[in-house]
Amino acid sequence: MSTKSKQSGKQHPICVIGAGHVGLVAAACFAEMGNNVVCVDNDKKKIEGLKKKNMPFYEPGLEPLVKKNMSKKRLRFSSSLSGSLRSSEVVFIAVGTPPQADGSADLTALEHVARNVADALDSYKLIVEKSTVPVQTGLKIKETISRYRTKEGKFDVASNPEFLREGKAVYDFFHPDRIVLGVESAKAERILKDIYHGFKAPIVVTSLVTAELIKHASNSFLAMKISYMNAVARVCDLSGAQVEKVAQAMGYDRRIGKEFLRSGIGYGGFCFPKDVEAFQYISGKLGYEFRLLREVKAINDGQPVFFLNKIREHLWVLKGKRIAVWGLSFKPDTDDMRFAPSVPLIGELLAEGARVYAYDPQAAKEARQVFKDVLSPKGNFVLCKTAEEAASRADCLCLLTEWEEFRTADWNRVKRKMAYPLLADGRNMLDPGQVKQCGFHYIGIGRKG
Ligand code: UGA
Repeated sequence: MSTKSKQSGKQHPICVIGAGHVGLVAAACFAEMGNNVVCVDNDKKKIEGLKKKNMPFYEPGLEPLVKKNMSKKRLRFSSSLSGSLRSSEVVFIAVGTPPQADGSADLTALEHVARNVADALDSYKLIVEKSTVPVQTGLKIKETISRYRTKEGKFDVASNPEFLREGKAVYDFFHPDRIVLGVESAKAERILKDIYHGFKAPIVVTSLVTAELIKHASNSFLAMKISYMNAVARVCDLSGAQVEKVAQAMGYDRRIGKEFLRSGIGYGGFCFPKDVEAFQYISGKLGYEFRLLREVKAINDGQPVFFLNKIREHLWVLKGKRIAVWGLSFKPDTDDMRFAPSVPLIGELLAEGARVYAYDPQAAKEARQVFKDVLSPKGNFVLCKTAEEAASRADCLCLLTEWEEFRTADWNRVKRKMAYPLLADGRNMLDPGQVKQCGFHYIGIGRKG
C-alpha cells in the first residue's frame, strides 16, 4: 500500500494507547490511511511535546507524517485515557511490555489499560493487542475487562501483531509481508479487515493465541538466524573461512533466505533480546523447556566479549589506551540504545581502564543518559561531536553500528588522525582489503583481516 492510497473500507474511530516506537508509528500511519486517530500516552511531557509537533525519538519519515495528519485533524494526542477510550471503537494497545529479572514480560501497563477499558465500556469496543505479548495474554485481558466492567457494553479482544523494524517503521507499516489477525468473532474480523482494506499483503486470520504466538515465534526465529551465523563465524575464525561468503552461498537457497545472516557483535534493541527471553519463559511456564532459545541468547551475550578479546589480543594491554567507538545505537537509522551491544562492550573497555571516545550520528542524547555515571570529566567516557574527533589519537577504532556515514569515511584521513591504525569492525561492514591498503590492521568477525 502506498502512503498516498487512502482506506476505502468502513471507518472506525481508533485509539492507539502508547506513543512509543510501535504506537506512534501505527497511529500516524492509521491516520494517513484516512482514519480518525487519537494517540494516548501517560507520559504527559511526551504528549505535550507531540502536541507541539516535537518527536520523542528519531524515526525516518515519521515526523512529516505526524505533522501532516495533525494539520488534517485526523491525528490528535491526549494524556486522558478514559476520554480517548470513550470516543473510540477500536483500541490498539501498544504499551511497553518490558523484561523482568526472570525474563518474563512485565504486563502491568496492559492490565492498567484493561481496567480503564472496563470503566469506559459504554458501547462496543474492539481491543487489539499491538505490542508483543506472551501467548494467552488476550485471555487475561478478556478476564480483566469482564471482571471490572460496570456497564454491560460488549467487547472483543483481538491480536494484530506489528512486524515493523525501527528505522524502517513507516515503510514496513505500509509494505507488510503479512497481516496477522487473531480474532474470536466475525465482527472483530470484519472491523480489522475494514481497517486494513487496500493492503496487498496476505492476511492470516487465526485465533487469538495463535496470533500472539506468531509474533514471539517470528522474532525468536530471526534472532536464532543471527546467533546461528555468529556461531558459524566463530568456526570461520578458527578455520580461516570467510563468513560472508558462507552466508551469501547459504542465502541463495530459498529455504534459508538471504536476510538476517549478517554476523557481528550481536543483535540488540528492545525486541529480540526481550522476546527471546520472554518466549523461553512462557514456554517453560506452559511446560516446555525451549533450550534452543537459551543457546540463542548465550551466543548473543558472548559476542561483545569475543570481539573485545580480539582487540585485547592485538593491543595487549587496554589500560590507558584510547579507544574510538563509532556507532552506539543498536542498529543504524535509530537513536535507540536499548540492549545495544555497544553498552556492554564499552562497559568492559572502561572496566579495564581504557578511555573511550564515542560518536554516533543520532544517539548522543541517549548515550549521555546511558553513560551518565562515567561521562568525562568524572569518568573515562567522552562523547564526541564528530567521527573524526573520536578517532583522533586513538589506538583502536571500533565500528559498532553500520551507519552510512562510516561506510563512506575517508580512511586515509582517519588513519592519519589515529595514534595506531587498528580497525575493529564489529559489523563486518568494510572491505578489509580496501582499509588494509590505507595501512590499517583489520579485525572482523569470522573473516580474515
Ligand atoms: C525486530 C524485527 O525485525 C521486526 O520485524 C519486529 O517488528 C520488531 O523487532 C519488534 O518486535 O518490534 P528491530 O528490533 O527494529 O525489529 O530491528 P532489526 O532490524 O530486526 O534488527 C535487530 C538486531 O539484529 C539489530 O541489532 C541488528 O544489528 C541485528 N542484526 C540484524 C544482525 O546482527 N544481523 C542481521 O543479519 C540482521
